[in-house]
Amino acid sequence: MTQLTARHPTRPRTPVWSNPLPAVKDALASAGLHRPRALRGERIEHPVDAPVLRTERLVLRPHRFTDADAADWLDLQSEPAVREFLPWPERDARRSARHLRDRTRHTRLWQADDFLALAVELDGHVIGDVSLHLRSVAASTRTVEMGWVVHPSLGGRGYATEAAAALLEFAVTTVGAQRVTAVTDARNTRSVALAKRLGLVAQTARAAGDPAVAPGETLLAVSAAPAAAPSAARA
Ligand SMILES: CC(C)(COP(=O)(O)OP(=O)(O)OC[C@H]1O[C@@H](n2cnc3c(N)ncnc32)[C@H](O)[C@@H]1OP(=O)(O)O)[C@@H](O)C(=O)NCCC(=O)NCCS
Repeated sequence: MTQLTARHPTRPRTPVWSNPLPAVKDALASAGLHRPRALRGERIEHPVDAPVLRTERLVLRPHRFTDADAADWLDLQSEPAVREFLPWPERDARRSARHLRDRTRHTRLWQADDFLALAVELDGHVIGDVSLHLRSVAASTRTVEMGWVVHPSLGGRGYATEAAAALLEFAVTTVGAQRVTAVTDARNTRSVALAKRLGLVAQTARAAGDPAVAPGETLLAVSAAPAAAPSAARA
Protein backbone atom coordinates (compact mmCIF):
# COMPACT_ATOMS: atom_id res chain seq x y z
CA MET A 1 0.00 0.00 0.00
CA THR A 2 1.85 2.92 -0.75
CA GLN A 3 3.31 3.66 1.40
CA LEU A 4 2.37 2.28 -0.15
CA THR A 5 4.84 5.81 1.64
CA ALA A 6 8.28 8.27 3.24
CA ARG A 7 6.61 10.58 3.78
CA HIS A 8 7.11 7.54 5.00
CA PRO A 9 9.47 5.01 3.89
CA THR A 10 7.03 2.74 2.17
CA ARG A 11 5.35 5.34 -0.06
CA PRO A 12 5.44 5.26 -3.81
CA ARG A 13 7.66 7.71 -5.52
CA THR A 14 5.93 10.93 -6.49
CA PRO A 15 7.64 13.11 -9.05
CA VAL A 16 9.10 15.94 -7.00
CA TRP A 17 8.18 18.50 -9.60
CA SER A 18 4.47 17.66 -9.44
CA ASN A 19 4.08 18.46 -5.76
CA PRO A 20 7.33 19.16 -3.95
CA LEU A 21 5.95 19.55 -0.44
CA PRO A 22 5.00 15.90 0.27
CA ALA A 23 8.31 14.71 -1.16
CA VAL A 24 10.23 17.04 1.11
CA LYS A 25 8.12 16.05 4.09
CA ASP A 26 8.64 12.40 3.23
CA ALA A 27 12.36 12.79 2.98
CA LEU A 28 12.44 14.50 6.36
CA ALA A 29 10.17 11.89 7.91
CA SER A 30 12.29 9.14 6.44
CA ALA A 31 15.26 10.70 8.15
CA GLY A 32 13.34 10.76 11.40
CA LEU A 33 12.73 14.49 11.26
CA HIS A 34 9.18 15.53 12.07
CA ARG A 35 7.48 18.66 13.20
CA PRO A 36 8.48 19.17 16.82
CA ARG A 37 6.16 17.23 19.14
CA ALA A 38 5.03 20.48 20.76
CA LEU A 39 3.54 21.57 17.41
CA ARG A 40 1.87 18.28 16.58
CA GLY A 41 -1.19 18.63 18.78
CA GLU A 42 -3.00 15.96 20.76
CA ARG A 43 -1.73 12.51 21.54
CA ILE A 44 -3.50 9.19 21.56
CA GLU A 45 -4.41 8.02 25.09
CA HIS A 46 -1.42 5.72 25.46
CA PRO A 47 1.63 5.47 23.25
CA VAL A 48 1.58 2.31 21.16
CA ASP A 49 4.95 0.63 20.93
CA ALA A 50 6.11 -1.63 18.15
CA PRO A 51 4.86 -5.15 18.81
CA VAL A 52 6.14 -8.56 17.89
CA LEU A 53 3.42 -10.24 15.83
CA ARG A 54 3.55 -13.88 14.84
CA THR A 55 1.62 -15.18 11.89
CA GLU A 56 1.47 -18.63 10.41
CA ARG A 57 4.80 -18.24 8.59
CA LEU A 58 6.24 -14.90 9.64
CA VAL A 59 7.46 -12.86 12.57
CA LEU A 60 6.86 -9.11 12.46
CA ARG A 61 9.14 -7.30 14.87
CA PRO A 62 11.02 -4.04 15.36
CA HIS A 63 14.02 -3.57 13.14
CA ARG A 64 17.44 -4.37 14.57
CA PHE A 65 20.73 -2.78 13.67
CA THR A 66 22.75 -5.96 13.26
CA ASP A 67 25.12 -7.12 10.55
CA ALA A 68 22.71 -9.86 9.50
CA ASP A 69 19.74 -7.50 9.20
CA ALA A 70 21.87 -4.90 7.45
CA ALA A 71 22.81 -7.49 4.82
CA ASP A 72 19.16 -8.46 4.32
CA TRP A 73 18.11 -4.82 4.18
CA LEU A 74 20.74 -3.99 1.56
CA ASP A 75 19.58 -6.96 -0.48
CA LEU A 76 15.96 -5.83 -0.27
CA GLN A 77 16.38 -2.18 -1.04
CA SER A 78 18.90 -2.82 -3.81
CA GLU A 79 16.15 -4.43 -5.89
CA PRO A 80 15.02 -2.05 -8.64
CA ALA A 81 11.51 -3.54 -8.42
CA VAL A 82 11.35 -2.54 -4.77
CA ARG A 83 12.40 1.03 -5.44
CA GLU A 84 10.17 1.53 -8.44
CA PHE A 85 7.24 2.91 -6.45
CA LEU A 86 8.98 3.83 -3.23
CA PRO A 87 10.77 7.10 -2.54
CA TRP A 88 13.92 5.14 -1.88
CA PRO A 89 17.08 6.15 -3.73
CA GLU A 90 19.65 3.55 -4.65
CA ARG A 91 21.80 3.17 -1.55
CA ASP A 92 25.24 1.67 -1.09
CA ALA A 93 25.94 -0.53 1.94
CA ARG A 94 26.78 2.41 4.19
CA ARG A 95 23.66 4.38 3.33
CA SER A 96 21.51 1.30 3.47
CA ALA A 97 22.82 0.59 6.97
CA ARG A 98 22.02 4.15 8.01
CA HIS A 99 18.53 3.77 6.58
CA LEU A 100 18.09 0.60 8.61
CA ARG A 101 19.39 2.33 11.73
CA ASP A 102 16.81 5.09 11.17
CA ARG A 103 14.13 2.44 10.92
CA THR A 104 15.08 0.96 14.29
CA ARG A 105 13.90 4.27 15.78
CA HIS A 106 10.41 4.12 14.27
CA THR A 107 8.87 2.19 17.11
CA ARG A 108 6.10 4.30 18.64
CA LEU A 109 2.75 5.75 17.62
CA TRP A 110 1.62 8.54 19.88
CA GLN A 111 1.21 11.81 18.00
CA ALA A 112 0.28 12.80 14.46
CA ASP A 113 3.02 11.96 11.96
CA ASP A 114 4.47 9.19 14.12
CA PHE A 115 5.65 6.26 12.08
CA LEU A 116 6.07 2.64 13.14
CA ALA A 117 7.91 0.11 11.00
CA LEU A 118 8.28 -3.62 11.50
CA ALA A 119 10.69 -6.01 9.88
CA VAL A 120 9.02 -8.96 8.18
CA GLU A 121 11.07 -12.00 9.12
CA LEU A 122 10.94 -15.40 7.47
CA ASP A 123 13.14 -18.21 8.76
CA GLY A 124 15.39 -15.73 10.55
CA HIS A 125 15.87 -13.39 7.57
CA VAL A 126 14.37 -9.97 6.98
CA ILE A 127 12.39 -10.27 3.76
CA GLY A 128 10.36 -7.09 3.97
CA ASP A 129 8.80 -4.31 5.99
CA VAL A 130 5.32 -3.23 6.96
CA SER A 131 4.49 0.10 8.51
CA LEU A 132 1.89 2.37 10.02
CA HIS A 133 1.81 6.13 9.78
CA LEU A 134 -0.45 7.88 12.27
CA ARG A 135 -2.38 10.41 10.23
CA SER A 136 -5.21 11.42 12.53
CA VAL A 137 -5.19 11.10 16.30
CA ALA A 138 -8.75 11.87 17.45
CA ALA A 139 -10.37 8.66 18.67
CA SER A 140 -13.45 9.08 16.46
CA THR A 141 -11.47 9.61 13.26
CA ARG A 142 -8.19 7.92 14.09
CA THR A 143 -6.52 7.12 10.81
CA VAL A 144 -3.39 5.16 10.04
CA GLU A 145 -1.78 4.74 6.67
CA MET A 146 -0.16 1.40 5.91
CA GLY A 147 2.90 0.62 3.88
CA TRP A 148 4.48 -2.64 2.76
CA VAL A 149 7.33 -4.12 0.85
CA VAL A 150 8.46 -7.71 0.36
CA HIS A 151 11.53 -8.95 -1.49
CA PRO A 152 10.51 -9.63 -5.10
CA SER A 153 12.16 -13.04 -5.07
CA LEU A 154 9.47 -14.03 -2.55
CA GLY A 155 6.54 -12.32 -4.23
CA GLY A 156 3.33 -14.09 -5.11
CA ARG A 157 3.44 -16.45 -2.13
CA GLY A 158 1.14 -14.50 0.14
CA TYR A 159 3.84 -13.22 2.49
CA ALA A 160 2.95 -9.57 1.93
CA THR A 161 -0.73 -10.31 2.41
CA GLU A 162 -0.05 -12.28 5.57
CA ALA A 163 2.16 -9.56 7.07
CA ALA A 164 -0.13 -6.70 6.12
CA ALA A 165 -3.21 -8.48 7.43
CA ALA A 166 -1.54 -8.95 10.80
CA LEU A 167 -0.56 -5.30 10.96
CA LEU A 168 -4.02 -4.20 9.89
CA GLU A 169 -5.52 -6.20 12.72
CA PHE A 170 -3.04 -4.62 15.13
CA ALA A 171 -3.94 -1.14 13.81
CA VAL A 172 -7.60 -1.73 14.51
CA THR A 173 -7.45 -3.62 17.78
CA THR A 174 -4.47 -2.00 19.49
CA VAL A 175 -3.96 1.40 17.90
CA GLY A 176 -7.70 2.00 17.74
CA ALA A 177 -7.73 3.03 14.10
CA GLN A 178 -11.17 3.84 12.79
CA ARG A 179 -9.88 4.13 9.28
CA VAL A 180 -6.94 2.44 7.60
CA THR A 181 -5.60 3.82 4.37
CA ALA A 182 -3.01 3.08 1.76
CA VAL A 183 -1.75 5.44 -0.89
CA THR A 184 -0.14 3.92 -3.90
CA ASP A 185 0.95 4.84 -7.35
CA ALA A 186 -2.00 3.88 -9.53
CA ARG A 187 0.37 1.89 -11.75
CA ASN A 188 1.49 -0.25 -8.82
CA THR A 189 -0.97 -2.99 -9.57
CA ARG A 190 0.45 -5.49 -7.07
CA SER A 191 0.15 -2.97 -4.30
CA VAL A 192 -3.41 -2.04 -5.28
CA ALA A 193 -4.29 -5.73 -5.42
CA LEU A 194 -2.82 -6.29 -1.98
CA ALA A 195 -4.81 -3.40 -0.55
CA LYS A 196 -7.97 -4.81 -2.04
CA ARG A 197 -7.23 -8.28 -0.69
CA LEU A 198 -7.16 -6.66 2.75
CA GLY A 199 -10.56 -5.10 2.17
CA LEU A 200 -9.46 -1.59 1.31
CA VAL A 201 -11.52 0.14 -1.33
CA ALA A 202 -10.43 2.86 -3.76
CA GLN A 203 -11.74 6.24 -2.65
CA THR A 204 -13.04 9.02 -4.79
CA ALA A 205 -13.02 11.59 -2.00
CA ARG A 206 -10.85 12.01 1.05
CA ALA A 207 -12.21 11.72 4.56
CA ALA A 208 -10.94 13.51 7.68
CA GLY A 209 -7.47 12.28 8.50
CA ASP A 210 -6.80 10.83 5.09
CA PRO A 211 -3.35 11.51 3.73
CA ALA A 212 -2.77 13.82 0.81
CA VAL A 213 -2.74 12.13 -2.56
CA ALA A 214 -0.58 13.37 -5.39
CA PRO A 215 -1.54 13.15 -9.07
CA GLY A 216 -1.15 9.56 -10.25
CA GLU A 217 -1.70 8.10 -6.80
CA THR A 218 -4.68 6.11 -5.58
CA LEU A 219 -6.08 6.29 -2.07
CA LEU A 220 -7.60 3.09 -0.72
CA ALA A 221 -9.28 2.84 2.66
CA VAL A 222 -11.31 0.68 4.95
CA SER A 223 -13.34 1.64 7.97
CA ALA A 224 -12.52 -0.35 11.03
CA ALA A 225 -15.60 -2.38 11.69
CA PRO A 226 -14.25 -5.51 13.37
CA ALA A 227 -15.26 -7.65 10.42
CA ALA A 228 -13.15 -5.45 8.13
CA ALA A 229 -9.89 -6.56 9.67
CA PRO A 230 -8.91 -9.94 8.27
CA SER A 231 -6.95 -12.05 10.68
CA ALA A 232 -3.43 -13.09 9.88
CA ALA A 233 -4.55 -16.68 10.04
CA ARG A 234 -6.89 -16.10 7.12
CA ALA A 235 -4.29 -14.22 5.04
C1 LIG B 1 3.33 -4.54 -3.13
C2 LIG B 1 3.91 -5.90 -2.80
C3 LIG B 1 4.25 -5.97 -1.33
C4 LIG B 1 2.91 -6.99 -3.19
O1 LIG B 1 3.54 -8.26 -3.04
P1 LIG B 1 2.84 -9.57 -3.65
O2 LIG B 1 3.93 -10.54 -3.88
O3 LIG B 1 1.98 -9.23 -4.81
O4 LIG B 1 1.89 -9.99 -2.48
P2 LIG B 1 1.74 -11.45 -1.87
O5 LIG B 1 3.09 -11.95 -1.50
O6 LIG B 1 0.74 -11.36 -0.77
O7 LIG B 1 1.23 -12.29 -3.07
C5 LIG B 1 -0.14 -12.35 -3.47
C6 LIG B 1 -0.26 -13.46 -4.49
O8 LIG B 1 0.21 -14.64 -3.86
C7 LIG B 1 -0.77 -15.65 -4.02
N1 LIG B 1 -0.62 -16.53 -2.87
C8 LIG B 1 0.10 -17.66 -2.87
N2 LIG B 1 0.07 -18.23 -1.66
C9 LIG B 1 -0.70 -17.44 -0.87
C10 LIG B 1 -1.10 -17.50 0.49
N3 LIG B 1 -0.70 -18.50 1.28
N4 LIG B 1 -1.87 -16.51 0.99
C11 LIG B 1 -2.27 -15.49 0.21
N5 LIG B 1 -1.91 -15.37 -1.11
C12 LIG B 1 -1.13 -16.35 -1.64
C13 LIG B 1 -2.06 -14.89 -4.12
O9 LIG B 1 -3.04 -15.69 -4.74
C14 LIG B 1 -1.65 -13.72 -4.98
O10 LIG B 1 -1.56 -14.15 -6.31
P3 LIG B 1 -1.86 -13.17 -7.54
O11 LIG B 1 -0.78 -12.11 -7.49
O12 LIG B 1 -1.76 -14.07 -8.72
O13 LIG B 1 -3.22 -12.60 -7.30
C15 LIG B 1 5.22 -6.15 -3.62
O14 LIG B 1 4.89 -6.07 -4.97
C16 LIG B 1 6.31 -5.15 -3.30
O15 LIG B 1 7.01 -5.28 -2.30
N6 LIG B 1 6.50 -4.13 -4.17
C17 LIG B 1 7.59 -3.18 -3.99
C18 LIG B 1 7.31 -2.22 -2.87
C19 LIG B 1 6.06 -1.44 -3.12
O16 LIG B 1 5.81 -1.01 -4.23
N7 LIG B 1 5.32 -1.23 -2.05
C20 LIG B 1 4.14 -0.48 -2.12
C21 LIG B 1 4.49 0.92 -2.25
S1 LIG B 1 3.10 1.90 -2.60
